[in-house]
Amino acid sequence: MTAARSMTLALSLSTLAGCATELPAAGVARGEVLYQNCSQCHGDDGYGSTLVHAPAIAGLPKWYLEAQLTNFQIGWRGAHADDVEGLKMRPMSRTIKSAADVMVVSEYVAGMPAKKSESTLHGDVAKGQAAYAVCSACHGVDGKGNEAMKAPPLTQAQDWYIVKQLGKFKGGVRGYEPKNAAAATMKDISGGIADEAAMRDLAAYIQTLPL
Ligand code: HEC
Ligand code: HEC
Repeated sequence: MTAARSMTLALSLSTLAGCATELPAAGVARGEVLYQNCSQCHGDDGYGSTLVHAPAIAGLPKWYLEAQLTNFQIGWRGAHADDVEGLKMRPMSRTIKSAADVMVVSEYVAGMPAKKSESTLHGDVAKGQAAYAVCSACHGVDGKGNEAMKAPPLTQAQDWYIVKQLGKFKGGVRGYEPKNAAAATMKDISGGIADEAAMRDLAAYIQTLPL
């Protein structure tokens, strides 16, 4: 860890410690205070940061946020040696010490308004639309996700994040744990995506879907 990074961590930990006496006992107010440990990467508004490759998480459904935070905590996500970004997120997930706190921080993030992100990549929208037919079975024709399939909404995701995650699934860097059925399913699906150009086409199309 660089000096600058350990400084940031020390600062954020001391911020949290400073708030500890005022940490509300429960509820979304407690989630808001816990989120102070997340905003350095995901932003105060939850829109993420291209610089540190942190995704937009504002407005994601509570069930999905809870599942991902738990996955990071138990090593079902972010524990693969080649997962540069996941390895950064994993220790952060472990700053949340209880299942109840996973719930309240997720509730707080779910309540933040989502927004569309800027397009950063070039892809062929028409090709992406054709390829998206497969995806719509789980993520919905409108990209708004489907809890019954454990498939998250994609409409708020940054295009670079979509491409990166598809690459991770395809390479087994995410979805490597067979007990994590949701991620293992998505890993299987990603096997049908030819290459990174096809991933960019999908991301370009998903970007056209309204929130
Ligand atoms: C040091 C920077 C950093 C901090 C601090 C951080 N995260 Fe993350 N987070 C990331 C990165 C990078 C990713 C992307 C991981 C990947 O590529 O799989 C991520 C991914 C996530 C995801 C998965 C989103 C998705 O669409 O699947 C959630 C949820 C999340 N973070 C929540 C949090 C919460 C809640 C906190 C505070 C407890 C937090 N993060 C703190 C960097 C950070
Ligand atoms: C059989 C159902 C299914 C199909 C079909 C499917 N997905 Fe998924 N997808 C999922 C599930 C479940 C997850 C959540 C994985 C997890 O919990 O880690 C997911 C996760 C993702 C993510 C990560 C989102 C995030 O916030 O980190 C992306 C991106 C994605 N899918 C894109 C696609 C694309 C593009 C297609 C079509 C080529 C597709 N999916 C087809 C079920 C599906």
